[in-house]
Amino acid sequence: MKKKLTIPKIKDGTVIDHIRRGKGPLVLWILNVDEISDIVSMAMNVPSKKLGKKDIVKIENKELEPEEVNKISLITPEATINYIENFEVVEKYQVELLDTYTGILKCPNENCVTNIRYDLGYKEPIVSKFKLKRREPVLLQCAYCEKYIEEDEIPKYIFFKRKYF
Ligand code: CTP
Ligand code: ZN
Repeated sequence: MKKKLTIPKIKDGTVIDHIRRGKGPLVLWILNVDEISDIVSMAMNVPSKKLGKKDIVKIENKELEPEEVNKISLITPEATINYIENFEVVEKYQVELLDTYTGILKCPNENCVTNIRYDLGYKEPIVSKFKLKRREPVLLQCAYCEKYIEEDEIPKYIFFKRKYF
């Protein structure tokens, strides 16, 4: 059977493939997509051997920053990142869950030392740090106050570059 192309191939840029079904829009938000001026496309519910159904995001003329890749790993740990040059895949890797995530998630505990507001007289903010306690489903724990973040709560606590609404 001829493979049907859901969205056109791109000449140069990044393809984020094998995104968990339904998580494509979150990946777009992580990439601050409304500030990108090049073409961005997304397909959802594409049939996949590995995942049953998957989402795909394609961004022309962009490479991902490490922080963006780390955020994507929390949302969809099976995702593969493909760098495209002149229509060819020149690099492909699967994102991976990290043992610690620093400065990426807000601690749900408002009294956590990482949430103490330095504008109220504290000298410096303390960067949040979460340890990976379980991989499937993902469970994270604050290194400071020991509060947990469950997998389905992750989008709520990820720092987006700016507020969307
Ligand atoms: N792709 C693209 N534009 C290109 C080349 C590839 O948009 N010029 C996309 C493909 O549509 C696919 C992904 O990048 O979604 C990876 O391409 P490729 O490695 O050729 O596909 P597969 O072998 O099916 O990938 P995998 O083994 O990772 O499933
Ligand atoms: Zn905490």
